[in-house]
Amino acid sequence: MCGICGVVGYQPATPIVFEGLRRLEYRGYDSSGIATVNHGQLSRCRAAGKLDNLKHALEETPLTGTTAIGHTRWATHGAPTTGNAHPHQAGQVAIVHNGIIENFSELKSLLEAKGRFFETETDSEVVAHLLDEHIQQGMPPKEAAFATIRQLRGAYAIAMIFEGHDNLLIGARHGAPLAVGYGNGEMFLGSDSLALAPLSNRITYLEDGDWCVLTREQVEIFDATGNAVNRPVQTTSLSTGQIGKDGYRHFMEKELHEHPVAIGQTLQRIIDPVTRRIVLPEMPFDVANLSRATITACGSAFYAGMVGRYWLEELARLPVDIDVASELRYRQPPQPDRGLALLISQSGETADTLGVLRELKAAGQSIVSVLNVEHSTMGRESDLVLGMVAGPEISVASTKAFTAQLSVLAALTIDFARKRNLIDEQKERELTDSLLDLPSHALEVLNLFEQIRTMARVIAQARDVLYLGRGICMPVAQEGALKLKEISYIHAEAYAAGELKHGPISLIDQSVPVVAIAPSTILFDKTLSNLQEARARGGRILVFTDAKGTERLKDVAEHVIVLPDVNAFATPILYAIPVQILAYEVALLKGTDVDQPRNLAKSVTVE
Ligand code: F6R
Repeated sequence: MCGICGVVGYQPATPIVFEGLRRLEYRGYDSSGIATVNHGQLSRCRAAGKLDNLKHALEETPLTGTTAIGHTRWATHGAPTTGNAHPHQAGQVAIVHNGIIENFSELKSLLEAKGRFFETETDSEVVAHLLDEHIQQGMPPKEAAFATIRQLRGAYAIAMIFEGHDNLLIGARHGAPLAVGYGNGEMFLGSDSLALAPLSNRITYLEDGDWCVLTREQVEIFDATGNAVNRPVQTTSLSTGQIGKDGYRHFMEKELHEHPVAIGQTLQRIIDPVTRRIVLPEMPFDVANLSRATITACGSAFYAGMVGRYWLEELARLPVDIDVASELRYRQPPQPDRGLALLISQSGETADTLGVLRELKAAGQSIVSVLNVEHSTMGRESDLVLGMVAGPEISVASTKAFTAQLSVLAALTIDFARKRNLIDEQKERELTDSLLDLPSHALEVLNLFEQIRTMARVIAQARDVLYLGRGICMPVAQEGALKLKEISYIHAEAYAAGELKHGPISLIDQSVPVVAIAPSTILFDKTLSNLQEARARGGRILVFTDAKGTERLKDVAEHVIVLPDVNAFATPILYAIPVQILAYEVALLKGTDVDQPRNLAKSVTVE
């Protein structure tokens, strides 16, 4: 959600920042812009829409200088126009901002009363005016920056540059991520390690309330009270090689092909290859004595959590409360003693999920997070992080992170079931074996693109689609419907197949295809009856099943995709892959922007 990149150095800064923005474009693509300071003079160039528009604008208005800040925007306040694009400039300063300044109206009125004129509809512009106001009052940049951030409420990551100061870049964070990259004779700021990947492998993640002053020679970091602090410098292994398309048309296509590796690498970390037993880090609580788990997440990660609920309730006999983070945060359910909060997030920065983490921590729950970006804010604030090893996910629609999340949750379930004396060694091996088979089964599923394309042709003509599943396949249906909506803009809803007759069946006719997740191992007869009911009303039935299921679907389904046999436990992980491929194929047919669907952004750091 909005990307920030900045450099103070000795080389031309615009190309460095522009390439940084390329790596951050997945965070928002409503507009972009760069500002530089050169021989003391500030200049900026901005463009609405994708980064390519900024490229063209820069060809016409090149920016020189060795210090620059840049921004890719996901609009919150104000339309996605060039006028509202960052950087914002006021007097002697230029800034870029990610987040929401909650008290911007109040600050704006104050500044307007002092005669300041606002050019944009954004909340961010107040930061530039406030900062400039302090500069005009005679404060040096460092003091002015501190005075400014002390007046802000809300969430922000900010980068600032100053007229007359070629060797200065100031950053601040509160509620939105910002990292410092260390170079030789140059220093960098970035929203995440992807922005900084080719620039530096030595990174400090600022903590909430931190602000930093960067020059070519040094980095100073201060906390919210203005005291100088030492934050750890981490060495990252992220390479730019990990963030190219590798010959695929889209990041999403590449990331779909990375399912086997993401599942395999994640499992490798948590299953001992010799004993085939789960080896998770020690839990900071007594598993046998847990009273309840509260699971929360957003979007696809929430559906992974739904699968986790079925697993933990059935196998570990652990009561589970689950809700999307934006609701749970304000629901104020009573929290039990000996309770566990399980947060799931690819980015580890999603504002709603992070908000719940803090609420539940304050309510005395043990915090375990399932994360792809382990050094994220959630990672730092959790009692324990269970890392997935999915690698960077650039496509806005989540793919491989979903199956990696499920792999971790499956292992956690087995671990809990063992510690709660509910399964013996033999059962544990049977379950882990079914997981260990998944990477090769996932590879087989990747051969089905063409068959799935045939199914996609039916969906691409529809305006509405119903997804059905039962039990543990229900969240897979929800994931399929979400992915379709997100990238093809076709309306899709997921229902528990048994609910069909309680309402949605009235929608069914020739024009509303029904996609069913129906492996023969999970309540198959029940799902089959529901599909027959839909067929009888003229519905076009499209099914993901296995060889055994195919036989029974002959007279009901128009298209059947046959998946490899897996046991019921591992089923949701495998079946998630073809439903995501289906959405991808439909999006291709519809000609949408697959990696950067309209109105969306990755890593949603606002509520
Ligand atoms: C769907 C998707 C989103 C994310 C959600 C949570 O394809 O990508 O629904 O799953 O925004 O993001 P994280 O996992 O980063 O917390």
